[in-house]
Amino acid sequence: MRKNIVAGNWKMNNDLEASLKLAKQVAKKVKKADVKGTKVIIAPTFVNLERVARATKKSKVKVAAQNMHFAESGAFTGEVSAQMLKSVGVKTVILGHSERREYFGETDEMLAKKVDAALANNMKIIFCFGEVLEDRKSGNQEAIVESQIKNALFHLEVDAFKSIVLAYEPVWAIGTGETATPDQAQDMHAFIRKTLTDKYGAEVAESISILYGGSCKPNNAKEIFSKKDVDGGLIGGAALNADDFLAIVTAF
Ligand code: 13P
Repeated sequence: MRKNIVAGNWKMNNDLEASLKLAKQVAKKVKKADVKGTKVIIAPTFVNLERVARATKKSKVKVAAQNMHFAESGAFTGEVSAQMLKSVGVKTVILGHSERREYFGETDEMLAKKVDAALANNMKIIFCFGEVLEDRKSGNQEAIVESQIKNALFHLEVDAFKSIVLAYEPVWAIGTGETATPDQAQDMHAFIRKTLTDKYGAEVAESISILYGGSCKPNNAKEIFSKKDVDGGLIGGAALNADDFLAIVTAF
């Protein structure tokens, strides 16, 4: 059985004090809600990772980074390596977020290298992809998503691929308040699973968690998560409020 996962991507929000406060609130509420069967992840900004990882160490909440560089070390000003993340207790990384692709020029080729670097360091990956509005309007969304997955991930051997979590985030739904309908999400997730089946076989495809991201909120999470191929969510705005985030975590 694949895992249900709800991950909060805090993006460039929350200073140290706010990060610790929110992380502790989330950990406490997750404990109180006795959340079973759903993995809960929060992704603060780099500078607050260590403190948040320490503050949540004894809880069920796991901490992820929002990005990392593919090199082990060296002259890459402003960047952070997998080894550095691991050294502060972070074992999961979000890669390929559309904001990284759009504002920081991350390409499929760079992402393939980041994926390799994370796996070489035994890190777990939440790999994001999704089409922009023009692609959706022109009916090109499946071709775009397929190429994003193939270019960054399909060089992997099956055992390596099995450890990856996918996050479908239609760019037109991110931070816009416009969510993909549950059926649009399901259709795309089913297409993704078929793409994985064609490459790695049905057993592997069935074992991969595919998260939905894009204006996922307490009032729509339940319906989206009820879809057969949706295994959870990658949450932006609503992850910045502990009550909203918990309402999504408990939506399964
Ligand atoms: P919103 O939930 O704010 O739309 O953001 C989604 C997202 O980008 C998560 O990575």
